[in-house]
Amino acid sequence: MPQNTQIPHTLDPDILILTRLLEAGDQYVSGNTLAEELGMSRVGVWARMEKLRNQGFDFDAVRHRGYRISREPDSLNPLLLRAKLAVASAKPPALVFLPEVDSTNAEAERHLADGRATPFVIIAGLQTQGRGRLGRNWHSPDEGNLYMSFVFRPELPPARMQAFTLWIGLCVCRALRDYTGLEIGLKWPNDLVINRRKAGGMLTEARVDADRTRDLVFGMGLNVNCDPADWPQDVAAVAASLSGELGRPLSLNALTVELVIAVMRAYERYMEGDFAEELKAEWPRYDILRGETVTVNPNGASHTGRACGIDDTGSLLVETDTGERKSFYAGEVTLGSHQTLSR
Ligand code: BTN
Repeated sequence: MPQNTQIPHTLDPDILILTRLLEAGDQYVSGNTLAEELGMSRVGVWARMEKLRNQGFDFDAVRHRGYRISREPDSLNPLLLRAKLAVASAKPPALVFLPEVDSTNAEAERHLADGRATPFVIIAGLQTQGRGRLGRNWHSPDEGNLYMSFVFRPELPPARMQAFTLWIGLCVCRALRDYTGLEIGLKWPNDLVINRRKAGGMLTEARVDADRTRDLVFGMGLNVNCDPADWPQDVAAVAASLSGELGRPLSLNALTVELVIAVMRAYERYMEGDFAEELKAEWPRYDILRGETVTVNPNGASHTGRACGIDDTGSLLVETDTGERKSFYAGEVTLGSHQTLSR
């Protein structure tokens, strides 16, 4: 994998070359055009493309026509991510890529403490101390998975952030369904689930002052190209991966870009207040708990009943045997079959 790379907002020459080639798709881009735009010689352009070849790219080079991309790297490549984002978005977020980190959420906090401007996204190839909810560990090997954290300063009152993870989760889930065709669902409040197995999890951590959310880190782990059967038994028993369900590997770089775009758009809509109706209307399409017997454990207590969606604040609604409807703002949910899906 390339060395630690912080990608600047202004396109560097490699990113510009890749951006122009991606924009052209199947068409060739002439070496002259690239050289002119970059203010360098054609030999200079060629030398840069040779270096890109060392990172897993390949190019068709045809005399009098130019270049086109014939192969993209399989593993996460920060130059390719940046170029794809530049093609897909007029306002891509700053991106920090690390081959290895303790936790992308922890790294995000360090950048915030240094005063880094938001929004930005931290992406890592592996995590040595990936954080899950409730103090759990998030198994994060270097096996073609996604570990990323989105960082914002929303400056909204904490009460307005209540439905944040559910809304972003819904948008992520929708993007994943569109991209993979898989029946991915959401298990309230933060699990991405396929066939009752957990393929991903979300962890939102915020620093809150009395009246505003000073900063917020939305972390997401997604099992993409790994085989959870190789993992420790307790995790393997409840985990799924996208490639395992699809029966083929996915392009990690392309998927990452889809998700970055989806999360950034979802965040914008959340901040504009343009989400509540859609969240309510769409949640049933993704809610894997609906109609199921569940046990909710908020703060050590235990409540069993039938899950019946969410209320306007995003709290889980559970109807008990006595017909009483309870709402839960937070808590651990166990499906009636004792299959916890958490890890
Ligand atoms: C959960 O389901 O318990 C939440 C898991 C969240 C894991 C992601 S991986 C990227 C980000 N960095 C972390 O340390 N955790 C989140």
